Amino acid sequence: MFVACWSVKGGAGVSVVAAALAHRLAVEEGAALLVDLGGDQPDIVGVAAHHQQGVADWLAGGPGVPADGLRRSEVVLTDGLALLARGNGPLHSGARADVLLALLARDPRPVVVDCGVPLGTVCSGAEELALAVATAATRSLLVIRPDLCSLRRALAAPLRPSGLVVVREPGRVLGADDAGEVLGVPVAAAVEVDLAVARTVDAGLLLARPPRQLQRGLRHVA
Ligand SMILES: Nc1ncnc2c1ncn2[C@@H]1O[C@H](COP(=O)(O)OP(=O)(O)O)[C@@H](O)[C@H]1O
Ligand SMILES: [Mg+2]
Repeated sequence: MFVACWSVKGGAGVSVVAAALAHRLAVEEGAALLVDLGGDQPDIVGVAAHHQQGVADWLAGGPGVPADGLRRSEVVLTDGLALLARGNGPLHSGARADVLLALLARDPRPVVVDCGVPLGTVCSGAEELALAVATAATRSLLVIRPDLCSLRRALAAPLRPSGLVVVREPGRVLGADDAGEVLGVPVAAAVEVDLAVARTVDAGLLLARPPRQLQRGLRHVA
């Protein structure tokens, strides 16, 4: 299972959803890999891995960086979950990125990628790589807050997701069904914006004490 989580606007909740989903899959399947293309996952999952070697180092590697170096960069988290960090330096697509995609696609563990940058915005190398990942994934999840600006961006996005994860603030006008209808994409999950989730993340305890509301919301997503 190769799942990509992406957004069209920063702050939607992609990193939190990706971490919570990867953790749930690790618990259920015995192992999972969380791949961070944005660089926020060490803060989200509460580990000191900011300068950890990862995807960017491997992509930039010349002859000195072996194909299995990716596996050796992984940081073991908890419950069978491993983190492949973003790494240092720029991200870019290209021939080596194709190898990365093939490696992720044939990993026996469920793989969840936090695509990192919103798609359809600045056309950077990081965005091209995120787009390649989201296109290659077997499950492409757009994490979106159902406001007009996000919906408009999603309609103009360079790819169509296979499902939506709608992160909804209580009291807002538009809900998960509205987002699904406007975009013509099935709602895979609906998650409420909840202070308890934000506090758990701020305390670095998302994996240690996954909020029940978040777990319930993501139950059938992949
Ligand atoms: N379901 C939620 N409830 C409350 N706060 C959330 C929720 N999801 C994310 N957040 C908070 O919103 C902010 C942005 O989340 P993040 O996952 O980093 O977004 P993105 O990766 O899309 O930029 C963070 O402070 C995070 O803790
Ligand atoms: Mg993020």
